[in-house]
Amino acid sequence: MKQIIKVEVSVRKVALDQCKTDLLCVGQFADAKALDKTIKQLDDKLDGALEQVIKLGDFKGKAGSSTLVYTGGKIGAKRVLLVGLGDKKKAKLGALRNAAAVAAKKAVSIKAKKMVVALHSAFGGKLDLIRCGQVMAEGVHFGSYIYDEFVTSEKNGRSESLSVELIDNNSAAVRKLDKGSHVGSIIGQAQNFARTLANRPPNIAYPEKLAAEAKKMVADLPGLSCTVFDERQLRQKKMGGIIAVGQGSEHKPRMIILKWSPSKAAKTGTVGLIGKAITFDSGGISIKPSAKMDAMKMDKTGGAVVLATMRAIAQLKLPVKVTAVVCAAENAPGGQSYRPGDVITTYSGKTVEVLNTDAEGRMVLCDGIHYAKQQKCELIIDIATLTGACMVALGMHKAGLMGNDDRLIKALSAAAERGGEPVWHMPSGDEYAEELKSKIADLKNIGSKYGGACTAASFLGEFAGQTKWAHLDIAGPMEPSEPLKKYVTDGSIGFGVRLFVEYLKGLAGK
Ligand code: BES
Ligand code: ZN
Ligand code: ZN
Repeated sequence: MKQIIKVEVSVRKVALDQCKTDLLCVGQFADAKALDKTIKQLDDKLDGALEQVIKLGDFKGKAGSSTLVYTGGKIGAKRVLLVGLGDKKKAKLGALRNAAAVAAKKAVSIKAKKMVVALHSAFGGKLDLIRCGQVMAEGVHFGSYIYDEFVTSEKNGRSESLSVELIDNNSAAVRKLDKGSHVGSIIGQAQNFARTLANRPPNIAYPEKLAAEAKKMVADLPGLSCTVFDERQLRQKKMGGIIAVGQGSEHKPRMIILKWSPSKAAKTGTVGLIGKAITFDSGGISIKPSAKMDAMKMDKTGGAVVLATMRAIAQLKLPVKVTAVVCAAENAPGGQSYRPGDVITTYSGKTVEVLNTDAEGRMVLCDGIHYAKQQKCELIIDIATLTGACMVALGMHKAGLMGNDDRLIKALSAAAERGGEPVWHMPSGDEYAEELKSKIADLKNIGSKYGGACTAASFLGEFAGQTKWAHLDIAGPMEPSEPLKKYVTDGSIGFGVRLFVEYLKGLAGK
């Protein structure tokens, strides 16, 4: 397997026209009347080439757009990339992150080995420079990613590595950018790790392999521990939900538990992060239609995001206690599969009447949530590509956010905003849980035909009980929406890593 493109980000004090590089990236707002003043000097050296592109109307500074300008050796850089920042009035850190992603995507597509980024300058003093460094680094990692592990042909080749410099001509600014870019690179790399796990084909990344990846990951991260329950241990513990879902596959289920428990930790109590990792969701006996069934290899995104988050917080050494529970199983049809009609006793002791084997996410997560409660997690947040209904409700742009605690919902919404991973608060609770009453067991695993995202969340809420709990349904942003395709290539976007790290940073007071 080949390495995913290696991206390194550093920060340097240098003037725009001095840096020798394949690609120099500068920003321009859509509502600016003329060329941004920060690049005017550069343009003078280019005999007004940048201004001409704008005057001709070839580049309008729209978010997601960019135009390549060749420098003819007049400055150190071989090419200048004008990157659109959108309207200045609306532009916040998210615009900067996106612009960095556009630039990095372009750099990879032209096989640049070195790129220089000075996108923050256009904002003047409007934004905090530490945060600028962070989001530019995040964006660079986000936009440069390509999932091509199994492409052996060199025809579609790309550079093996991309070296990125964030530059500024002011020493104090450089120090701040550097501080932020260190954080942003950790988060960006973690997010790309999640994307790779989510994108990996289901014949390669089945539960046992995912557990091996988790073990491999913690080996390099002091202070992070990993325990894996195999099928025998899951049976011993009577984790009936995850066993039922996984029993139809040759590849048996695993529960992967990671613990980050620094000695100096915030007094917030332990946070439990629970991830759905269905390595392939065929639907099981309630089999899915064949169109686009391959995308269900990404039904492990929630688990991948949880693993990546643990990697990031261990690298950042965040002072907050976190226990991660990744519920990994393959939902396959076969002679051993669980069936519609089965009654399953879950780990909590609650019984569930299975009416659709394709509603398997909640069947694995309920055991993970109960385990987190037993492990004394005071806050539980689960993340899952849980329902097509959530996509019907919200489209692909936002994740659904449900929960039983207003403060937690508010904190997660704020973290989503900071991380540029939008969520929308949706209802869950008693009315929806009412639909899940079964005549022959404690619960059914599906509700009525309406509000499927809300009934699914409410099913999980029954297992969270009195514990503070929130749920992220990431079925929509499992893949990039149309506007996001300007910033990233196809496949998983690892939605949730930035949100989670921002949330945990917030708890840790960082
Ligand atoms: N993994 C799917 C949900 C999904 C669908 C995620 C499309 C991403 C894209 C989930 O396990 C599922 O199949 N849910 C069913 C639930 C139904 C049977 C109540 C669904 O949404 O149809
Ligand atoms: Zn399913
Ligand atoms: Zn699923």
